[in-house]
Amino acid sequence: MIIAQNAIEMKEARGRVNASVGFVATMGALHAGHLSLIERAKNENDFVVVSIFVNPTQFREGEDFDRYPRQLEADSILCKAAGVDLLFAPNAEDIYGSDEPAIKSPAITGHILEGKFREGHFDGVLTVVMKLFNIVQPNRAYFGKKDAQQAILITKMVKAFFLNVEIVLCETAREGGGLALSSRNTYLSKSEKNEAYKLSKALFEASKLIKQNEFRSLAIVQAITEVLKPLSIDYIAIVDYELKAIETIKRGETIILIAARVGITRLIDNMWI
Ligand code: PAJ
Repeated sequence: MIIAQNAIEMKEARGRVNASVGFVATMGALHAGHLSLIERAKNENDFVVVSIFVNPTQFREGEDFDRYPRQLEADSILCKAAGVDLLFAPNAEDIYGSDEPAIKSPAITGHILEGKFREGHFDGVLTVVMKLFNIVQPNRAYFGKKDAQQAILITKMVKAFFLNVEIVLCETAREGGGLALSSRNTYLSKSEKNEAYKLSKALFEASKLIKQNEFRSLAIVQAITEVLKPLSIDYIAIVDYELKAIETIKRGETIILIAARVGITRLIDNMWI
């Protein structure tokens, strides 16, 4: 496995690859969710690049940038075992200069849901993903449905800027008990983890009700609220793929999103119906 520590090394290595390149962008602390994206990229491309970069611009003041788990050595071993061809692990000075232009997230879909609770978050995500795409120049890039709004906004950016990369969205990997895998789960104590299961439990309950032909968003939101008690809920939203709130759920066109706090840890989960 090649390791590129800055953009110049990455571009040089990319220049030597004459085959299809699959790309998985991450902030590290790799888990089976990340590995499922890597596996899919391996299956569909000749050469797989993984980036590990805890992107400062997508964290708000007071968020968990400083305590975000950093474990490059362990991640590097996981990548190697997963058959990654190139690990790109730059530091912030390689990616950002001063007084730079940046990408702005869409006026509407960038500033609702996560964008409302984390103002500026998606500007940071889109800016870094644009930079990473330009450095890595992948043919295909793999993103998790776990971060639904992020996945949708990146897809919009690729379309808006006519980027030559195919975005592939991948299913959410979960623990046996249902909890969506997340690097932030490492913050949870044992008792908090028991509480965290309520997010997926609520989504499974919603899915059960929909199977029983309950399509009214209001009824589903009520059922979810009940399961989440007594967690502090940031939002429960039922939206279409444009992130527009809908009153009636339609199969194949709907996402149910939850953001809630367990202790001081903020967790998100969702289900694409
Ligand atoms: P990170 O949270 O490390 O996630 C990297 C990728 O893994 C994202 O596409 C995310 O949706 C996906 N992912 C996370 N948990 C998953 C799970 N349980 N199942 C499947 N996929 C999962 O998302 C980011 O980093 C950053 O915002 C990034 C895009 C790298 C830009 O900095």
